[in-house]
Amino acid sequence: MENLIYLDNGATSFPKPEEVYTFMDKFYRQNGVSPGRSGYDLSIETGNIVEDTRKAMTRYFNGTDPRRLIFSLNSTDALNLAISGLLNPGDHVITTTVEHNAVLRPLHHMSLYQDVKVDYIPFDGKGFVDPDDFISGFQSNTRLVVVNHASNVTGAVQPIKEIGKICREKGVTFLVDASQTAGKLPIDIEEMNVDVIAFTGHKSLLGPTGIGGLYVKENLTIKHTRAGGTGVKSAQRHHLEEYPYRLEYGTLNIIGIAGLYAGLNFVLKKGLENIHGHEMDLTCKLKDGLSRIDNVVTYCADDLTNHIGVLSFNIKGFEAVNTGTILDGEYNIACRTGLHCAPMVHEQLGTDKLHGTVRIGFGPFNTMAHVDKAIDAIKEIASIYTK
Ligand code: ALA
Repeated sequence: MENLIYLDNGATSFPKPEEVYTFMDKFYRQNGVSPGRSGYDLSIETGNIVEDTRKAMTRYFNGTDPRRLIFSLNSTDALNLAISGLLNPGDHVITTTVEHNAVLRPLHHMSLYQDVKVDYIPFDGKGFVDPDDFISGFQSNTRLVVVNHASNVTGAVQPIKEIGKICREKGVTFLVDASQTAGKLPIDIEEMNVDVIAFTGHKSLLGPTGIGGLYVKENLTIKHTRAGGTGVKSAQRHHLEEYPYRLEYGTLNIIGIAGLYAGLNFVLKKGLENIHGHEMDLTCKLKDGLSRIDNVVTYCADDLTNHIGVLSFNIKGFEAVNTGTILDGEYNIACRTGLHCAPMVHEQLGTDKLHGTVRIGFGPFNTMAHVDKAIDAIKEIASIYTK
């Protein structure tokens, strides 16, 4: 742990800002009670942080109604709620080969058990899907389009606004997975023509694990596929129809929400453009450094304009896991190797044959010195093992 260079922020951000640790610690000591529902002052005060976080996340997405910001465990959980609650047997869905298993597996499940048909739009040589490819994919029973805002493997940011415009014209619901971008990029669901957006708190929003959610646009109905305690209208046998209760079940993760609140505040105070700009400076330097090393191949666009601070590479002929193990064991550099839960990306890149890629994901606390050390280490590994 000492002197560890942590470059796995695509998986989860680490460390968190001091402000997050301090806020969570203080909050849980002082307010660790059931939020809102128990009626006494401390419970009401605890409920306020939940509502303040709903409002702050709603503002971040440029939503209009904080009740439509619902909390769940993480993106996977939120995406499951959305996918199972939006689709009916016989429906058709268009998605992409960029997707994470958080989308691929729920859709596969729906195709197995609910007779839902799924089509996958491939990405181009640079990692981007073409909005025009969606147009010919619509069928009379197409109910949903699901697209990853940015790939956790290639880092490519997809043309969400353009795809959303097409979905609007077709009257089809557009669900976006913002796991890698919430807290990195500005997200305006109005401007981007998005109907439902899923986020997680523990990556670029700099909160803890176990908290995420959805923002669901007004006039859109997601069936509740679960049911349970809401803390209000307890005599009613049927799960509540109104948001946020409609999609929230049981006591909320208040310590997670408090961490998300502090993380979001940190990000907004620092400025999204400053954090993203810093991470992209690191990414460009890394890409440039890797391009000078023989036998290293990177999997990203030449131009990193529409990109996040995530970069995948391999040493030719060398399995990704081996590079990662040496980086960790010999150089104290932590990054993720493998398929990164996005198997179709690797099928298309051909990197499935090397069991995936080595992925470096930058966070706000990484430095140019970290990049230098990573480049030097990769150069040394490539020169020793590809002789
Ligand atoms: N989805 C996370 C990743 O890309 C866990 O590593």
